[in-house]
Amino acid sequence: MNVLIIGSGGREHALIIKIAESKKVNQIFISPGNAGTLQIGENVNLNITSHSEVIEFCKNNLIDLVVIGPEVPLVDGLSESLRENNILVFGPNMLAAEIEGNKKFSKELMDENNIPTASFKSFSKSQFNEAIEFLESGSFPIVIKASGLAAGKGVIITENILDAKGAVSSMMLDSIFGESGNTIVIEEFLEGEELSVFAITDGDDYILLPASQDHKRIGEGDTGKNTGGMGAYAPLNFVTDELINEIEKNVVVPTLKGLKDKNRKFNGCLFCGLINTKEGIKVIEFNCRFGDPETQTVLPLLDGDFFELLYSTAKGKINKDAVKYNGGSSICVVTVSGGYPDKYEKGFEITGLENIDDESTKVIHAGTILKNGKVITNGGRVLNAVTTLSKNSLSDCKSICYNQISKVKYKDIYFRNDIGFKA
Ligand code: AMP
Ligand code: GLY
Repeated sequence: MNVLIIGSGGREHALIIKIAESKKVNQIFISPGNAGTLQIGENVNLNITSHSEVIEFCKNNLIDLVVIGPEVPLVDGLSESLRENNILVFGPNMLAAEIEGNKKFSKELMDENNIPTASFKSFSKSQFNEAIEFLESGSFPIVIKASGLAAGKGVIITENILDAKGAVSSMMLDSIFGESGNTIVIEEFLEGEELSVFAITDGDDYILLPASQDHKRIGEGDTGKNTGGMGAYAPLNFVTDELINEIEKNVVVPTLKGLKDKNRKFNGCLFCGLINTKEGIKVIEFNCRFGDPETQTVLPLLDGDFFELLYSTAKGKINKDAVKYNGGSSICVVTVSGGYPDKYEKGFEITGLENIDDESTKVIHAGTILKNGKVITNGGRVLNAVTTLSKNSLSDCKSICYNQISKVKYKDIYFRNDIGFKA
């Protein structure tokens, strides 16, 4: 089988490593990919916004399955363009992808289906004054979210009325997130341990992959600005069988049913961003794709044929026995360019990759590019060091991972030293 993967991050490099393990897979293409993906597949440069260009590539290269990594092409309808042309794809259609691309829709779906989430109210641009009035009667902290896609940056948690009004104005009047902030959701602040759960689903049936936890903030102790994700680990010791049952019963099952009832059947990875509150599990957000960096830490914990899981799902009947949790543990530490998530420089040579000499540690590439035989930094998040052990021992994973990553160098390298601290 020939596979095309869309994307260029650590998530996509991790996906192709796992897909390439399948005996069924011959050739892997990735667009645009990075310096890591070209060690396994062929990097190609497709214009993803041109659906006809992607379709033509798939036809010319006899692609059996397309896997779409990031949310933007999903929300943009690349999946249905491919499906309309009889090309098999893992990833939801545009209307189902709205569960991530349109937070107002997502919150209303939860409301209609009694799916536990923060209480909320949404406002369109013409309701700016109502939004401000609503804040005046609200309690703090309060959470303000751009309804549309904002590359993970569209959430502002505010501690007082002044900051809250500022956040609403910046989204609705100053358009800091462009059109994505034309509609906003204002919601209750929830407290508890966060977890990411991926449901792989054909729209009717599903399996859950092991739960993981991501570290979104730039600074140690979960402080400072939000980022795409500075590291992740799995499994989580607080996730019991009872909690998984609760997640399935109260979140996954009603969400899939709710989407299907609206003719928005979801085929792909439904990413449930959850929080374990005193009142039980609640949804922080849904994403229509695999998480990054959670994918890097979850996939090494699967035995079996991951390609078969995605392929059977894309064909419409998930093979629930294709993979299973192998009982291990894994940690992923992300290295970034100095200055990230604000302004940063790129174009620095990365050295020391050849010094990684531990079998349980893999370097997954994100913002890297190969130039004249050298690996060069090419983005904010640059590398992911992933250490996986066959036993459940996160503390061992952690010490090995940090020992290995310290061998890699580039100008202004930064990473958090406390990934997995809550474990
Ligand atoms: P999101 O992009 O929706 O995942 O939000 C980014 C981060 O903001 C989440 O991982 C949470 O840490 C935080 N967050 C979002 N919504 C809430 C909420 N209602 N209560 C508390 N924290 C939240
Ligand atoms: N790690 C969070 C995300 O992928 O959105």
